[in-house]
Amino acid sequence: MTSDVGLIGLAVMGQNLALNMESRGNTVSVFNRTTSKTMDFVERHPGNNLKACRTLEEFVDSIKSPRRIMLMVQAGRAVDAVVGQLVPLLDEGDTIMDGGNTYYEDTEKRAASLVDSGIHYMGVGVSGGELGARFGPSLMPGGPPAAWAMVKDLLESIAAKAPDGEPCVALLGPGGAGNAVKTVHNGCEYGVMQLIAETYHSIRRILGISTNEIGHIFESWQNTELSSYLVEITAIVLGHSDEDGEPLVERILDQAGAKGTGKWTVEMALSIGAPVPTIGAAVDARNISSTKEERVAASTVLDAGLLPSTADEESYVTTMQEALYCAILITYAQALSLLDKLSAERNYNLDLAAVASLWRAGCIIRAGFLDDISKALQEQPDKSNLLLCEPFRTEVANRLPSLRKVVIAATQHGIPVPAFTSALQYYDAYRTATLPANIIQGLRDCFGAHTYKRTDRPGSFHTEWITE
Ligand code: NAP
Ligand code: ATR
Repeated sequence: MTSDVGLIGLAVMGQNLALNMESRGNTVSVFNRTTSKTMDFVERHPGNNLKACRTLEEFVDSIKSPRRIMLMVQAGRAVDAVVGQLVPLLDEGDTIMDGGNTYYEDTEKRAASLVDSGIHYMGVGVSGGELGARFGPSLMPGGPPAAWAMVKDLLESIAAKAPDGEPCVALLGPGGAGNAVKTVHNGCEYGVMQLIAETYHSIRRILGISTNEIGHIFESWQNTELSSYLVEITAIVLGHSDEDGEPLVERILDQAGAKGTGKWTVEMALSIGAPVPTIGAAVDARNISSTKEERVAASTVLDAGLLPSTADEESYVTTMQEALYCAILITYAQALSLLDKLSAERNYNLDLAAVASLWRAGCIIRAGFLDDISKALQEQPDKSNLLLCEPFRTEVANRLPSLRKVVIAATQHGIPVPAFTSALQYYDAYRTATLPANIIQGLRDCFGAHTYKRTDRPGSFHTEWITE
């Protein structure tokens, strides 16, 4: 027993995480279902403290007790298969960390099934892709405090460091809390990416400027309140030329793929009745993008019914910049509000300030403003939504006219902006004291005797609406 930690699953993420752990002074035992990949990986890194294991028995025997084992295998059945083979070989007090994009309910079930064995089970969200895994990912662990005590030092050492030096990792709650936060992180990522795509589309269509020029606009936004990883790489992607010098993105097929974490976020939100319309719009936008043939056919037969444009082209880029920041904040507000509701539903006791804090570096949705979001949530814990917290309440208010202008201009031009529109609609619905849900209740009671509540006295009421 000489290794400090074990890692199973040597695809891109597992290899990089193993190298990250090793670079922090750990001897790492590694195992992969396909042994040739294990041997190949270790041979490619001679001189590193990596121990290649051909069998799970050899792997388990090589790790110091109590053992710390990270799984980086495909989410779903692969995790069940590995856990099923691993558990009979482990001892009480050992800790399994599932670092995959696992559905939080699956982690809940696996953790519950291991409680009697005394083996700790954690779901650890890992974000940052290949480079993050190698040099510092944002880590979102959930599980029992006893397990956290065992792995805290290891995870803090491999995690990304925020600008103030804090490691981007904290125990977020029990069971599947970490996987739930990672899922919502990805949902937020869907929303922001869709807003960026709509920004590009609107500027291109309304101002008619080149992709390269739009790349420069995004580059200049990195020096503003929009500073973030996704804006940074948008400038890179838009500025990238194909072999003949033309923008590569213009030759990429307009069909967005999805592995499903956005859909999971929306399913999670629907299951607890939390509104996340911008994330939903982003999932729908990817789905509608995949119907390429139908869209091409429809584009030749469906009229646009355009209205005269009122967009002020002189100031349109600034309007777009303000609208994008405003809509991004509204998307983060939806994501954080979803986590707040999930936390209450599941007794996760999530600290939203800590969640925002560990999203500050290493992950895909990292952004300059997350530092301020974290501080605002910490200082104003009584506020039920980020939109109510200063300085964001004021920042959004100041930019709302721009958000409205962007939605109006796109609508006049027939440019689809579902993410911008849904962000504005969420904001308007959230700030409306009296919504027309009274009509819904009246109709439900009329056709189905579902009853309604009154504003002027307590109780449930039913009316015989149709009398014959
Ligand atoms: P992946 O393609 O999701 O998974 C491949 C790994 O799973 C291989 O080691 C494979 O072993 C193993 N595996 C598959 N089925 C198995 C089974 N039935 N039994 C045992 N092992 C099995 O790899 P990845 O992209 O590195 O991602 C790993 C996890 O991290 C996933 O959950 C992913 O969603 C998550 N993640 C990925 C990224 C990213 O940027 N790629 C970022 C964050 C999180 P073989 O070599 O034997 O096939
Ligand atoms: P990270 O944790 O580093 O963000 P991730 O969770 O594996 O990495 O995925 C990063 C983003 O890339 C996600 O938005 C993911 O979207 P899906 O969950 O829908 O896949 C996206 N992504 C990953 N693989 C993709 C693929 N093959 N096609 C389209 N998007 C993909």
